[in-house]
Parts: sequence; C-alpha cells; structure tokens
Amino acid sequence: MAGKFHLRCKDCSYIVKDFKEWFSLNQKCPKCSGKWVLAEYQNDFSGLIPVINEANGKAKDLFHYFDYLPLNNTDNIVSEGEGIIPVERWEFLEKFAKESCNLDLEVMVYRNDMNPGTGTFKDIAAALVASVLKEAGVKEYVVASTGNIANAFAHYLALAGISLTVFIPQDALLSNEAGVGSYGQRVYRVKGDYHKAKKLASEYSQKYNVLISGGNIDPMRVEAKKTMVYEWLRLLNKLPDVYIQALSGGTGPIAIDKGIDELGNLNLINKRPRYILIQPDQCDPMTKAWDNAKAKGFPEGWQQEYPVMDNPVTKVPTLATGNPITFPIIADVVKNSGGEIISFTENEISDVARLVAYETSIKIGPAATIAVGGFFEALHKGHIKNGESVMINVGEGVRRAPELMNEMTYTTKLVDSLDECEPTDRAIFRDGLWIPFNKYSR
Ligand SMILES: Cc1ncc(COP(=O)(O)O)c(C=O)c1O
Ligand SMILES: [Zn+2]
Repeated sequence: MAGKFHLRCKDCSYIVKDFKEWFSLNQKCPKCSGKWVLAEYQNDFSGLIPVINEANGKAKDLFHYFDYLPLNNTDNIVSEGEGIIPVERWEFLEKFAKESCNLDLEVMVYRNDMNPGTGTFKDIAAALVASVLKEAGVKEYVVASTGNIANAFAHYLALAGISLTVFIPQDALLSNEAGVGSYGQRVYRVKGDYHKAKKLASEYSQKYNVLISGGNIDPMRVEAKKTMVYEWLRLLNKLPDVYIQALSGGTGPIAIDKGIDELGNLNLINKRPRYILIQPDQCDPMTKAWDNAKAKGFPEGWQQEYPVMDNPVTKVPTLATGNPITFPIIADVVKNSGGEIISFTENEISDVARLVAYETSIKIGPAATIAVGGFFEALHKGHIKNGESVMINVGEGVRRAPELMNEMTYTTKLVDSLDECEPTDRAIFRDGLWIPFNKYSR
C-alpha cells in the first residue's frame, strides 16, 4: 500500500517512496545526486485547517498534525509533549519600542525553552527524527554536533531505544558532552575543531554503514519545524509580520517557508513573515556575506559568495556554523521575504539574559539571547516598521548553559555582619539593567 507521503527531489523531481528508500540511497537523489528532498502528502491541505482549529485544548504534541508529517504509523510516534508551547506577549519590549523608537508594535515570543525534552527548539525535530528512524527500523544514528541537536537526538533516540554516536569538537562544553553521554549514547571527543568532527562522523558513517544525520535541509527536521506555522495559526489566527530567530544553519526559516508554501494556494495565507535572522558577532559569516551582497546591490550569483570562518571562538557554540554551506538557500529565503541578516554582539549576551530574567522571570539560554538582542539591533537599524507584529523565537532556556547562568549574578554582596545588610527593593536594579540598551533607541 502506498504511504501517505513521498519525498520529491527539489532539483529534478525524482520521487523517493519513503524514508527507508531515502536512507538506502544514502540520502542522495539517484538521478541527480541532489540532497534536498521535500515531503509531499496525499492528504489535501484544506483538511489541515479543521485540524488546527480543533487543536486548542486537545493537541498534546506536534503529532497532533500527524496527517501532515512524514510518518506512516502512529505506533512509531516517539514524543514527550513537545511542540505545543505558548506564544507570549513581552510588553516590556513593546514599551521600549514605543518610548525609544516611537513604534507601536506587538511583540511576541515563541517559548521553545518550554519544550519538555531538552528545553530547546530542537526537541520537535528530534521527536520526529526518532519516530521516523523507528519506523524505518534504524538501530544506530551518527551526528557531528557542538550543541543542542546532539542533546535532543540523544534524548529522543534513547526513548526510542536507538543508539546515537556523537562526534564533538575538542573544545565542546562539558555540559553538552554530559547531556549526550548520560543517556548511554556514545560520545567521541575529537582532537580538533567542528570541521574535523564532521569529517570523522562522515567516515564513521561510511566505515560502519551507520546512517548519518542530514544537514539543515533534512526533510525530517524541516517537516517537524514547519509545524511552527500551524501552531501560530492555532494560537494567533495569523502569522507575524516579522520573525526573528538566531541563525546557525537556517532550518527554522526554511521550514516556515515550506509550511507556508503548502498552505499558500488555500488562500489562507497571503504573505510570509519577513525573516530577520541574527548571528553572534564572533561567528557571523552569513551576516558578512549578506552585508557584502547588499552593498553591491545583490549582483548576479551573490548567493554563492560567502566567507568561511575556521575555528570560530564564540560564546554561543550552538550557533557556530563557521562554514555556512546553506547560505545560498538562506540567502534566497531571506531576500524573498524582504528580510535581513544581522549580528548581535556577544559582549552583551549576559546583559540580555539578565534583563529578560528581571522583566519576565524567564531564564533564556545563549542562543536565545542572540535572538532577543537581535530585536534591539533590528529596531535600531530601522528594520521593523510601525504597527507590525513581531515573533521572537526564544530557542532555548538556560538549563544547559551553566556558564551563562553564572554570569547572570549581579545582586550579591559579600557581608560579614548584619550591619551591612538592608531591606531589599528589587526595583533598584531596573535602571541599571536597561543602561546597556539605551544605545538601541532611535
Ligand atoms: C536555541 C537555538 N536557536 C536557534 C538555532 C538556529 O537554528 P537554525 O539556524 O538551524 O534555524 C539553534 C540551533 O542551531 C538553536 O539551538
Ligand atoms: Zn534529483
């Protein structure tokens, strides 16, 4: 019996029947060797709207959208309730936009830190990957990673009883290593950088015939993340005018585009958000490529020109894609949306984390500080217009970044006796926390 979906090669339209076949083809199109395939469904997307509408109070996880996900049998679902997370208004940012830039905005955040698996944006992708691998009978998977994806895979594959082998660069954080290893998933700490870790992972995959994780265009990751679109329609009944996200390889915006394209001809959506993507300034090859192209007026072939940063030293290893091979794809996605790629200074990561914790009681992680900081930068640069709604993807909480947590301390006073203590009013800290952000006014 034919399954409910197939995979179509983006370049030559060759059709691959399912993931089992795709994996047996080494995740490459047999006709043109292309690596980018899109999932297509037998189901009519008009059926999705009732599914979205009835989701309120009922949806437990992203598999509420099962009919539009590339899995054939619900028995194979591996899930812990990820993907059904709140959108919140952050009025303190709206107030700043009004008072400092004279803009009336609706500022919302998408609380990926509330995902139950590992508390990041990667949980939905990992849940679907684990489910698809289970359905395809895969026993072991391999990935090179510095950050969140390895942790999320380690967690969800362990739930599915699938082994994971992770190659991490020598300088990867201990907390990342522990996050993977604690589930009994194998870690190889490679004497070298991320590039070398990727090389060894690829050689390992070939030598032992172990399936290797695809990159940012991996159809499992894209299909999971496209459910962001469904969720915004469920929660808001609209898409935001602007979407702000920290940028590493760009699966997020690629997936949002896919979700919108599928719904596009239903007249339910008549626009896509402008993608404003933010890189940490110590590893921002895509920003550099974008700035360069923009300065030249986006000349023919501009998408192919980007710098490669070897061994970037950054406080946000999660976002450290020094060799941005997806730039040609992201470049078009951002340009078509009327968006921008900008950077945010890593020096201000802890300022952002402290401000957010003070104003909202939410402790965000390093990659999320880049997104929130990017909001200030985008305001300052005039990239957001009066009356717009803005969605900031808070991609992770602080729980796996103890270093950032330590930097968030600022109220401590060392005392010897009670004479040195006085009653506390937390309001005295507010002005100081806002000082670093005054420069973003216009
Ligand atoms: C918290 C968080 N935000 C943003 C990103 C960037 O995701 P991408 O560039 O793949 O869309 C990542 C992963 O790299 C992440 O873990
Ligand atoms: Zn092809």
